[in-house]
Amino acid sequence: MTKPFSQSCENNKHAILTVLTRELMQSQRILEVGTGTAQHAVYFADKLAHLTWQTSDLACNHAGIHHWLDSVSLDNLKRPLLLDLNQPWPIEKVDGIFTANTLHIVSWPLVSNFFHGVGKHLSSGGKLCIYGPFNYLGQFTCQSNADFDVWLKDIDVERGIRDIEAINQLANAQGLTLMNDHTMPANNRLLVFVKF
Ligand SMILES: C[S@@+](CC[C@H](N)C(=O)[O-])C[C@H]1O[C@@H](n2cnc3c(N)ncnc32)[C@H](O)[C@@H]1O
Repeated sequence: MTKPFSQSCENNKHAILTVLTRELMQSQRILEVGTGTAQHAVYFADKLAHLTWQTSDLACNHAGIHHWLDSVSLDNLKRPLLLDLNQPWPIEKVDGIFTANTLHIVSWPLVSNFFHGVGKHLSSGGKLCIYGPFNYLGQFTCQSNADFDVWLKDIDVERGIRDIEAINQLANAQGLTLMNDHTMPANNRLLVFVKF
């Protein structure tokens, strides 16, 4: 197979790294949910060598993830776990969880499952970093996000850009507090929660 490629990952990985470098300075073991092509995983594991980066995704993406992991030699980058948000997570505790561009792709019940998983598998003091577009008080932050939401719902009505207030509620219910809401390029956010 040809190596899967996402141009948006190439575009956003530098800005995300800048934030993760600060936010994950004290972390050791990161679980990435919805690794996708693994371009982020390969880049972040290389640049953040103090971390162990555990990839995960649905089975359909594993061949592509292996392809990217085969192209580098990084001891701190781990082969993908089969993590489906419909199922219990195949991992013990981690002290960091990262996900990019997943919460608007999965249905709202799976967003809820995501936070239950985070509550169960993120250790006390651990950080949750979520990258993607979000709404505030039900409002899109720009026309391009509104257009993107229409496009998402044309594919699957259960998809859609989430309200940060609703995300925060799910997070709070799992003992997580929003510590930072970073402004990112292209009208995205990087939300950082801490579990107390
Ligand atoms: C838009 S892609 C984002 C991929 C990558 N994180 C990125 O930023 O390019 C959404 C990801 O969510 C994953 N995903 C979709 N449904 C899922 C589920 N039920 N459980 C876990 N991951 C899921 C997809 O396989 C895909 O990797």
